[in-house]
Amino acid sequence: MKKQIVLLAALLLPVGVVADGKVETEYRQAVMKSIGGHMVSMGTILKNRVHFEDLALHARGLAALAEVAPNVFPDGSQTEKSKSLDSVWEDPEGFKAAMDKFVSAAQDMSAAAESGDMSRVGPAIQALGGSCKGCHDDYKAE
Ligand code: HEC
Repeated sequence: MKKQIVLLAALLLPVGVVADGKVETEYRQAVMKSIGGHMVSMGTILKNRVHFEDLALHARGLAALAEVAPNVFPDGSQTEKSKSLDSVWEDPEGFKAAMDKFVSAAQDMSAAAESGDMSRVGPAIQALGGSCKGCHDDYKAE
């Protein structure tokens, strides 16, 4: 009960008043993990030829998360627990280019999965995976 009251109180607080770096890092990592979850799910489906009917759902989920991804790196959100490199904030143009590439690759993958045309799905997921790596190589610590 107490927990519920605390949660309710938290919900009543105005949104976005304090940019708390720790919370921003936590949220960013959770969003990335969700993106990773969809990616691993799609890889498992394609590699093992199981649950094909779920492919488009994961592709849509990932594309939806790609819409919020550009917003999870606000200024002041670099913390000790963060694996983001300083280059995220020091090279905003390069970072934005990597992000744009990912967002469009996620949309392409969603369209390909939706179409059910497997000759489109292969290249689309490869491009999508390449866009993760393209950003991680330059902007994420190991
Ligand atoms: C534009 C840059 C960018 C793109 C694109 C990107 N990532 Fe990330 N990702 C990061 C950064 C930076 C971090 C480190 C976040 C932190 O700890 O502050 C990260 C962290 C992660 C993590 C670790 C989360 C955790 O803390 O456990 C996973 C998993 C992940 N990304 C998966 C993916 C996948 C899968 C894709 C592509 C489908 C992707 N990312 C695309 C920048 C990106």
